[in-house]
Amino acid sequence: MVAKVELIPQGPQFSELVQGYWRLADWQMSAVERLNFLKQHIELGITTVDHADIYGGYSCEALFGEALALEPSIREQIEIVTKCDIKLCSEQFPERKINHYDTSKSHIIESVNNSLLRLQVENIDVLLIHRPDVLMDADEVAEAFAELKQQGKVKHFGVSNFSPTQFDLLQSRLDAPLVTNQVEINPLNFEVADDGTLDQMQMKRTKPMAWSCLAGGEIFSGQMEQQVRVRNELELIRDEVGAKSIDQVIYAWVRRLPSNPLPIIGSGKIERVQTAIDALDIELSREQWFRVWAASKGHGVP
Ligand SMILES: NC(=O)c1ccc[n+]([C@@H]2O[C@H](COP(=O)([O-])OP(=O)(O)OC[C@H]3O[C@@H](n4cnc5c(N)ncnc54)[C@H](OP(=O)(O)O)[C@@H]3O)[C@@H](O)[C@H]2O)c1
Repeated sequence: MVAKVELIPQGPQFSELVQGYWRLADWQMSAVERLNFLKQHIELGITTVDHADIYGGYSCEALFGEALALEPSIREQIEIVTKCDIKLCSEQFPERKINHYDTSKSHIIESVNNSLLRLQVENIDVLLIHRPDVLMDADEVAEAFAELKQQGKVKHFGVSNFSPTQFDLLQSRLDAPLVTNQVEINPLNFEVADDGTLDQMQMKRTKPMAWSCLAGGEIFSGQMEQQVRVRNELELIRDEVGAKSIDQVIYAWVRRLPSNPLPIIGSGKIERVQTAIDALDIELSREQWFRVWAASKGHGVP
């Protein structure tokens, strides 16, 4: 069973696995099928959903909102995460000449208002600043957060892809703790375990959210040396622990990190969601964990 966990002590509660909706537009589902998928993963205990304004070229939140509107009472059973600050060139924004970041107060507020309209909900549980913005004025972001909180539009705030200093900078201007840093963690790329990002999460007892745990699917078929090495090692460990597939070993490997990351599932296939849930019972030994580390790095520990 999927448990509920606190992101920070006495903070908001998320399901320990999160359903990602980045690829929703690719799933080619009708509104009823989208609703059924949502209801199925809620039934399995995955109640937290991850969105961003830009997903699907600004279409995924609306596809989700359309499905949710078929049964609005479901809103009370889920925790909605969405993000802001990336500005993409797209048909809706012909005036934009280049993709860029915008953490100005006006953009954060406008972005949340648009997300609420698209998702067809009254509020967002957690808003993340999607990517660090070198032009970020932390005081201005704090003003935006205070206004959104006071208006009841956003309950909690966090960040994504932030370095420890970027996290500390923003935190220094806020009254309430940032509740997460959503970062890439998978056996092909776990830089955050080396650069202090996950150390900071552990220090603050703040759970990171882990995106692209399966490296966007590359881990299953990639032919680069590192990908082949890692896949071979994962297959050996799969057989040792009696896992059904290497994705189960990967989820166990990500969850073995002491900062307690919450994996975000990227698949739109309920059987693959179930596979991730079944992996919650798998525990890797230190040796098994470091064998994946070594396969990824191409050498043993120093
Ligand atoms: N904050 C950020 O900057 C950021 C960045 C990227 C993603 N995210 C979040 O993280 C979530 C997960 O990221 P992700 O979608 O990249 O996750 P992922 O789990 O690494 O990759 C999902 C992809 O892998 C495929 N896949 C899954 N199991 C497979 C298998 N057994 N064999 C072959 N292919 C398989 C899926 O295809 P099927 O759909 O066919 O199963 C899907 O295309 C996103 O939805 C989004 O919410 C956040």
